[in-house]
Amino acid sequence: MTSKIYDRPFYYDIAFTWSVLKQIDFFERIFELFVPFKVERIGEPACGTGRLLLALARRGYRVMGYDVNPRVVEYAKRRITEAGLADRAEVKVADMRSVVFNEKFGAAFNLINSLGYLHSDEEIVTHFRCTGDALQTGGVYVVQLSCAWGKPPEEDLSSWTFERNGVRVKTTWTVEHEDRERKLSHQRCRMEIEDNGRELVLDEPHVLRLWLYEDLRRLARESGRLFLTAIYDEKFAEVPLDAELTGELGNLYFVFGGPLGLSKTSNGAILLPAGGPDGRGTPGGSN
Ligand SMILES: C[S@@+](CC[C@H](N)C(=O)[O-])C[C@H]1O[C@@H](n2cnc3c(N)ncnc32)[C@H](O)[C@@H]1O
Repeated sequence: MTSKIYDRPFYYDIAFTWSVLKQIDFFERIFELFVPFKVERIGEPACGTGRLLLALARRGYRVMGYDVNPRVVEYAKRRITEAGLADRAEVKVADMRSVVFNEKFGAAFNLINSLGYLHSDEEIVTHFRCTGDALQTGGVYVVQLSCAWGKPPEEDLSSWTFERNGVRVKTTWTVEHEDRERKLSHQRCRMEIEDNGRELVLDEPHVLRLWLYEDLRRLARESGRLFLTAIYDEKFAEVPLDAELTGELGNLYFVFGGPLGLSKTSNGAILLPAGGPDGRGTPGGSN
């Protein structure tokens, strides 16, 4: 996949430079609530420039991330080495559509709708299978994404600016059109960069999966590896599993449990996946 913004990881990294520390506190709460063992090893599909990997490694986790873009992987590797974290953090070039691991993780994360780069049901189910197989028994896969709008707004645009060492990047991300028939969301990313007197604009379309909640649940179920355990909103407040989920709710965190283990619910009870010891069922059979 060639991309103007991911092929320029230096600018991407400035544009997406916001702190992940509160997010990691939230992930640790998820571990306490849902994972019946101490999480030590974490995987991150589509890790980009490694901003989450670095912060997790600094907290003492052993992390492995992968991304399809060799340039962001190279950039992430360099940052990890410079931070002296190479003994705890590893990054590889790999594709979410096909990657198979030979190691297990207590948790995995997929942030800011990176999963949306997989468009077809088949690609998503394959990814869920590969990632579910890579989870330790009772581990979790947390996927952050936003659903299709219930009532499309006149304009769906978010814009933010970050500066580092005199380099200023203004990013504008717009949802231009939701194609419900093909289940695709047509978006645009524009970065206006001022780099020590030089001005540069990176502007390109991004086509992402248009997420309908029922599809996400169905695809997880079809994978036979993951079941939906909980949902949280941008402020880390729990959203009921039977809520109507639309773009109005913003970027949501979907917590998937692996199938074979015991999984804790948010009130601390232990759930045994329905469907018996082969674990192919789901709690309540409805997810
Ligand atoms: C919005 S960025 C997010 C990066 C990172 N997760 C973060 O939070 O900063 C999306 C990333 O997905 C990667 N990506 C897109 N398609 C992919 C695929 N099929 N397999 C692996 N990575 C992919 C891109 O190269 C890019 O680095």
